[in-house]
Amino acid sequence: MEYSPGLRGVIAGETKISTVGMEGTSLRYRGYDAIKLTDTHTYEDVASLIIDDDLNGSDFTAFFQKYYTELDSDKNINNLLEQIKSRLHPMDVIRTIVSYIGESEKKSDLEATTQISAAVAYVIASYNDSKTSELNDEYTVASSMLSDEASKDQLQALDDILILYAEHGFNASTFATRVTGSTRSDLTSSIVSGIGTLKGELHGGANERAVELINSFQDVEDATVGVMKMLDEKKKIMGFGHGVYKIQDPRSPVVKSWVKKLISDDDAKLRFEIAKKIDQIMDQEKKLFPNVDFYGGLLLSELNFNVNLFTPIFVAGRSVGWAAHYFEQREDDTLIRPAAKYIGVEERD
Ligand SMILES: CC(C)(COP(=O)(O)OP(=O)(O)OC[C@H]1O[C@@H](n2cnc3c(N)ncnc32)[C@H](O)[C@@H]1OP(=O)(O)O)[C@@H](O)C(=O)NCCC(=O)NCCS
Repeated sequence: MEYSPGLRGVIAGETKISTVGMEGTSLRYRGYDAIKLTDTHTYEDVASLIIDDDLNGSDFTAFFQKYYTELDSDKNINNLLEQIKSRLHPMDVIRTIVSYIGESEKKSDLEATTQISAAVAYVIASYNDSKTSELNDEYTVASSMLSDEASKDQLQALDDILILYAEHGFNASTFATRVTGSTRSDLTSSIVSGIGTLKGELHGGANERAVELINSFQDVEDATVGVMKMLDEKKKIMGFGHGVYKIQDPRSPVVKSWVKKLISDDDAKLRFEIAKKIDQIMDQEKKLFPNVDFYGGLLLSELNFNVNLFTPIFVAGRSVGWAAHYFEQREDDTLIRPAAKYIGVEERD
């Protein structure tokens, strides 16, 4: 059998959940165009579609409200949160809290997934000094992570990015989730595998690195010189390129247009100009396009999130995709166990 480094192009399983990168650019969730869903539906609807093939998010919303409210009055969780927040990255905090909650009783697929989503959102909200006192009925998940003062545009922008983060085929973290699920392990353990895998900078961590890069430049000229130098030194520019899309990441224009719409001051305007310049250089020099993380980082900054909460927000969106793949893998019930090509020394005594 031919060896493909990084398993590129290898079909490692079957799925009914999404198609990624057909014609080099499209993204569909259970047959629906994900980009159109950002115009027509909320994250809760899309989450329910991904888990249960039902584009009506009312049950997801009800479960989310129930579990989120329960967390608010859970002393043990809140004590643990306070203990670990001072010394761990928020991704590690999320991994720990999800792990701690675990699974004590049998629940429906949707309810078990929503409990995890609520825990992730609750941890993110705990970093917000002015977190909302009341969840919004329409954009429930997005509102949990913003403040009461959030505008409708801000709620919609976060809702859209959560939709775009929700599912993406056999990416590294989803595959890790499926590998764990394939041993007949439980949902929580499988999601924890996904969280650990998303943390790396070649995957979820790219949005943090992208915004740090943009912020490191004083102005457009500085960015031009800096990025050209990095390319000369064969360094990777975070937020560009993709393992599957070959023409464009369809999620990027949606995110970029929200950044443009939400620009609130001169500083944000300058950072948008710098980002567009980097985008132009990458196209010109490397024929590489921005992926969801490039403008995604800027959008999350514009929504007032600290850089270290960007990947956690990715988790908040993606947990439903991971869960759907977990359930699909359990249904399939095949242990994932590939082979390795041995390149070590010959036999020796
Ligand atoms: C996502 C990624 C791993 C996809 O990898 P891939 O399709 O397997 O592409 P490769 O890593 O094999 O790169 C192919 C070529 O493009 C270059 N390239 C790819 N992404 C690049 C980037 N972001 N910056 C600069 N050069 C890049 C590689 O250096 C390589 O050049 P070479 O042929 O001269 O060696 C890669 O594009 C990357 O590391 N991007 C930055 C991290 C990122 O944004 N991740 C989030 C993904 S949603």
